[in-house]
Amino acid sequence: MSSPNTALLSLVAVLLLFFTLVESAGSTEEYRKVCTVRPCRDGSDDAPAVLRAFEECGNHGRVEFLNETYHIESIMNISGLNDVAIDLKGTLLWGTNITYWLNNSMPMGYQNQSTAWILGGDRISFQGHGYGTIDGNGQVWYDFIKGASNYPRRPHAITVYGTTNSVFEGLRFVQSQMWTMTVIHSSNVLLQDIYVSSISNSSTSTVNTDGCDTIYANNITFHRWEVHNGDDGISPKANSTNILVTNSTFIGGAGLALGSIGQYKGVFETIENFTARDCVFINTTHSAYLKTWTGEQVGYPPNGGGGGIGYIKNVLLSAFTLFNVRQFPMSITQCINFAGAAGNCSSSLFAISNLSFLDIKGTVQQEPIVSLQCSAVAPCVNITVEDVSGLKLLNGTRMRQYDCDNTLGTLGFNCTGHTCGMASGDGTC
Ligand SMILES: *[C@@H]1O[C@H](CO)[C@@H](O)[C@H](O)[C@H]1NC(C)=O
Ligand SMILES: *[C@@H]1O[C@H](CO)[C@@H](O)[C@H](O)[C@H]1NC(C)=O
Ligand SMILES: *[C@@H]1O[C@H](CO)[C@@H](O)[C@H](O)[C@H]1NC(C)=O
Ligand SMILES: *[C@@H]1O[C@H](CO)[C@@H](O)[C@H](O)[C@H]1NC(C)=O
Ligand SMILES: *[C@@H]1O[C@H](CO)[C@@H](O)[C@H](O)[C@H]1NC(C)=O
Ligand SMILES: *[C@@H]1O[C@H](CO)[C@@H](O)[C@H](O)[C@H]1NC(C)=O
Ligand SMILES: *[C@@H]1O[C@H](CO)[C@@H](O)[C@H](O)[C@H]1NC(C)=O
Ligand SMILES: *[C@@H]1O[C@H](CO)[C@@H](O)[C@H](O)[C@H]1NC(C)=O
Ligand SMILES: *[C@@H]1O[C@H](CO)[C@@H](O)[C@H](O)[C@H]1NC(C)=O
Ligand SMILES: *[C@@H]1O[C@H](CO)[C@@H](O)[C@H](O)[C@H]1NC(C)=O
Ligand SMILES: *[C@@H]1O[C@H](CO)[C@@H](O)[C@H](O)[C@H]1NC(C)=O
Ligand SMILES: *[C@@H]1O[C@H](CO)[C@@H](O)[C@H](O)[C@H]1NC(C)=O
Repeated sequence: MSSPNTALLSLVAVLLLFFTLVESAGSTEEYRKVCTVRPCRDGSDDAPAVLRAFEECGNHGRVEFLNETYHIESIMNISGLNDVAIDLKGTLLWGTNITYWLNNSMPMGYQNQSTAWILGGDRISFQGHGYGTIDGNGQVWYDFIKGASNYPRRPHAITVYGTTNSVFEGLRFVQSQMWTMTVIHSSNVLLQDIYVSSISNSSTSTVNTDGCDTIYANNITFHRWEVHNGDDGISPKANSTNILVTNSTFIGGAGLALGSIGQYKGVFETIENFTARDCVFINTTHSAYLKTWTGEQVGYPPNGGGGGIGYIKNVLLSAFTLFNVRQFPMSITQCINFAGAAGNCSSSLFAISNLSFLDIKGTVQQEPIVSLQCSAVAPCVNITVEDVSGLKLLNGTRMRQYDCDNTLGTLGFNCTGHTCGMASGDGTC
């Protein structure tokens, strides 16, 4: 028997325990609000249900997708999330109504580019378990654009916008409509165990199917990516700082691309502290290349431009293994010009300095090891190439050539010739 006083004390104790549990709930999984998105299963648009789930569980919540296919037939702008776990076990399959997407894709914040999906917030943990799939149904786009570069309003698969302190993990991106992912206006984001495959099953081009671009982004880490595509693998662009790429494999595309940058006349942009190590490149054009627009503006973005200023500095590329890379394992070109037209390779004011290419081995189709086509008015400074004796041509001959123009301060190598960019003026040969 308890007196009223002890009963009151017990009640207080129980309440205290209860509030203690509730308070700790914020940090433990069990007490998150959970929204499970159920697919329509009749092929109609699941996007409204996805948006509702994020509205309801977008703040200290959890959004779960079942191991089923969700049809995404309309744009999704999911912004301002706060401490959200996203669990994708099934497939998000994008619709193929080209008329709809061309009319509705959303601006993603750079180069007049557009996107089908914006996702952003603080403390997002997006888990795909190695099989959760984002399928852009891109074949219809590869066939539709007929090779046109930056086809207006062709949508990117996902834009990670305004995102901080977040993790994206175990996701598969297949047949992206255009660029797979952009991380923009974001910082402290880890993206690991990500598989990207955008391969045309017809003869049509997969131009602009970049793996991931970073723009206005700081402290972004890419770990264990595998990218099969037809364009840049991972590409830091305007104001990308402290970007790390590790243990990743790039197949068939261009490799790592710093830039292009310097596309906006008079605008100051930078890429600083880019490190890539322990990466494998199979059948790619390069392993890494830096590209800046020329000093003259010709046309407007996305396909035209030039005259931008700024710098790329502190680039460390190391421990790469190459298989059948097509040309210039490491390349710099400052000749990017309107729609690939011949431009003035000597006019870019964009400054490139402190780049190291170290511990590189494997096979390449042709000499040289590096092609450094730097601008006459802003020469490249401090380029180091070391420990590349393991680079061989397909017939087993060790590679020995280094082509350079306007390179001040080479460390570990001497230039053996000039770049063909200088001779032909168009950066290609
Ligand atoms: C998802 O469902 C398919 C069949 O619908 C099944 O084959 C597959 O094993 C499931 N995957 C997981 C991870 O549960
Ligand atoms: C495609 O989208 C357009 C524009 O939104 C719409 O008018 C048309 O009915 C859609 N077509 C189909 C087959 O759904
Ligand atoms: C384009 O989208 C706008 C806004 O969503 C809509 O009002 C217009 O009818 C659409 N046009 C076509 C051709 O689908
Ligand atoms: C996406 O939604 C956010 C928040 O509502 C808004 O600020 C932003 O303008 C939207 N972006 C686009 C491209 O519609
Ligand atoms: C960089 O981001 C990671 C998350 O990927 C975080 O753990 C780390 O603290 C960040 N570093 C800095 C200097 O903010
Ligand atoms: C990354 O690759 C290096 C070299 O192959 C290896 O030593 C290291 O264990 C790998 N790290 C991870 C986390 O996979
Ligand atoms: C890009 O970085 C430069 C140099 O830090 C800065 O002046 C400029 O404002 C930045 N641009 C944007 C859009 O953040
Ligand atoms: C680049 O790295 C250096 C050395 O770690 C650091 O001092 C500098 O602040 C970094 N730059 C940026 C823009 O974070
Ligand atoms: C690389 O290219 C060769 C020759 O075209 C081809 O046999 C091989 O399958 C390709 N490798 C990959 C991983 O795609
Ligand atoms: C080039 O490297 C040297 C030695 O590391 C350094 O003192 C110098 O500041 C660097 N120059 C530039 C432009 O970064
Ligand atoms: C290997 O190929 C290169 C370039 O094609 C050629 O110059 C060289 O003579 C070849 N070496 C051998 C041993 O066949
Ligand atoms: C570059 O050439 C200079 C002068 O001939 C020579 O002393 C130096 O050893 C060479 N450096 C390399 C890495 O071959």
